[in-house]
Amino acid sequence: MRDRLVVGNWKMHTSLADAVVLATRVRDGMDQVSSDVTVVLCPPTVWLYPVAEILERSADHLQLGAQNIWPGREGRFTGETSAWMLAQMCQFALIGHSERRVHHDEDGQTINQKVKAALRFGIRPILCVGEFRRLTSDARGQLKPRRGDRASDIFLQLRNGLADLGAAEVAQVVIAYEPVWAISGSSGGQTAELHYTAQVVEQLRAAIDGYVGSRVAARIPILYGGSVSARTAEQFAHLDGIDGVLVGAESLKANEFLQIAATFHARAKRS
Ligand code: PGA
Repeated sequence: MRDRLVVGNWKMHTSLADAVVLATRVRDGMDQVSSDVTVVLCPPTVWLYPVAEILERSADHLQLGAQNIWPGREGRFTGETSAWMLAQMCQFALIGHSERRVHHDEDGQTINQKVKAALRFGIRPILCVGEFRRLTSDARGQLKPRRGDRASDIFLQLRNGLADLGAAEVAQVVIAYEPVWAISGSSGGQTAELHYTAQVVEQLRAAIDGYVGSRVAARIPILYGGSVSARTAEQFAHLDGIDGVLVGAESLKANEFLQIAATFHARAKRS
């Protein structure tokens, strides 16, 4: 069975006091969440250490993730935080989030270096891919980016992100599919339709199958992200091929976030 994950991306939110309260509330509510669902908190880098201390006394299935990493160990890179440093606290790292692709011009090669660095230092990369504009169907019914919309080529994002990795390395990667138009605060801010999401996820898994074979592809967790709330999480929890969610805005509310994580509990009971 594939790992199931519910990941909270706090983005650039929370004061230190807010971060401590939020992490403590999530930690203390983890008894609502099935132990086979891994919950990952991704606070801003500056709050990782205090949150790590809070999580020290938590259930094993509550873990810590970075929102970004620098691909290396140490060096003259003012203001950066290396994969090696983060590996001393974090089990996961978000890599290639659309906000980093847009605001920091992260390209496929940079993202690939970060994925490799994370793996090298023992961090599980959560590789984010997502189209900026909805994909369209071709004559064979396959979804693909509109002509000339290279930025929305999620299959290229996937291929670049996983470039040069062996099957054993790919097996450590988590994929987060986040249609950028569905992310809250952006133009749309509505979850993607279920049949559309299911089709994209199926095509992503087929692409991974093409790189490393069906055995590994069948094991890679694929998460959905984009305006997930306690209300919508349930639908994604029951969608074939979806193994969890990446949550932004609603991860800043402990109760809502725990409810989302508990939704995946319901599915765990049935399977
Ligand atoms: P959202 O953000 O849940 O606020 O839409 C998701 C993300 O950007 O990771």
